[in-house]
Amino acid sequence: MDLKQLKKDAETGISLIKNTLDLEKWRIKYLGRKSALSLFFNSLSKLSLKEKKEQGQKANAIRQLFSSLYEKKKNDLESNLSFSSNFIDITQPGEKIHQGHLHPLTSTLNDITNSFQKIGFSIIEGPEIETEYYNFDALNIPAGHPAREMWDTLWVKSENKNGESKMLLRTHTSPMQVRFMETNEPPFRIIVPGKCFRYEATDTSHEIQFHQIEGLMVGENISLSNFKAIIEEVVKDIFKQKVLIRFRPSYFPFVAPGVEVDIKIKPKTKNQKSKIHNEWLEIMGAGMVHPDLFKRAGYVTNRWQGFAFGLGIERIAMIKYHIDDIRLFFSPDVRFLEQF
Ligand code: DAH
Repeated sequence: MDLKQLKKDAETGISLIKNTLDLEKWRIKYLGRKSALSLFFNSLSKLSLKEKKEQGQKANAIRQLFSSLYEKKKNDLESNLSFSSNFIDITQPGEKIHQGHLHPLTSTLNDITNSFQKIGFSIIEGPEIETEYYNFDALNIPAGHPAREMWDTLWVKSENKNGESKMLLRTHTSPMQVRFMETNEPPFRIIVPGKCFRYEATDTSHEIQFHQIEGLMVGENISLSNFKAIIEEVVKDIFKQKVLIRFRPSYFPFVAPGVEVDIKIKPKTKNQKSKIHNEWLEIMGAGMVHPDLFKRAGYVTNRWQGFAFGLGIERIAMIKYHIDDIRLFFSPDVRFLEQF
């Protein structure tokens, strides 16, 4: 047996191998039970002790060489395989990419403020911890006035800097009406978005924390019909659908007359028959600014008129996204948010 030739053949053979299948064929051919080497080992028994030892050592060395060639090649092929792992198995199921998005209240707030900005309203912000004066007295709701019961209040255990007025968490955004007018002369149009708080039992339509947008437009010859035209425009823009507007007489001490505004959303198609279509839905309180407020702001008597309104952002989001429980907005259940 020509061991030298065998060694040469095996070495050239393995150097040409490019895949594991061929490597396995090589292993069987050079290291398998029926390989030339194995047959050679079997034939050793016929030799003399001396020859057996000599030939056996040689064959053993070759078998060890083949084994190490085999292991090395196997490793090379495997690491090549992982190296070329930019190979894409298109039959594998995909991985879902979770993309975040704005909270439905944030996008509703953005929609509403954008709509008002388009028609010239400026955005103003005010304090969430408010004085009793601006939240109530300045709005014609003195202590003991029955209307105070409309706003269940969370009081803060402190007084303002001068110790003059009790502090509270604002129950609405209306306090910014007098605050703003004290330092600004008409004409102007502003909206005041922000958080409000009420000491209330919660249910599907009440939360202790919610958001409002206050609106205030003051100038010469401003009337309720201006208000109606503006609101019609904004509501149409927010719902991207034709909307009917209705005023109902109501009472808020800081406006005269006061109204409640209802909307009715016309379905886009005949098949659109959701609960919110063709039904009057209340969206805000509003009215013509009471002359007392102008007086408190120090304005010239009888020169200015204006309208004010207070819009619930949760209310609009609930109508827009068909949400039937206000408490979901602040619930920790992500399944709620994943629907949007
Ligand atoms: N602030 C009132 C509330 O929270 C809503 C409101 C009603 C605001 C009439 C107004 C208004 O500006 O004119 O219930």
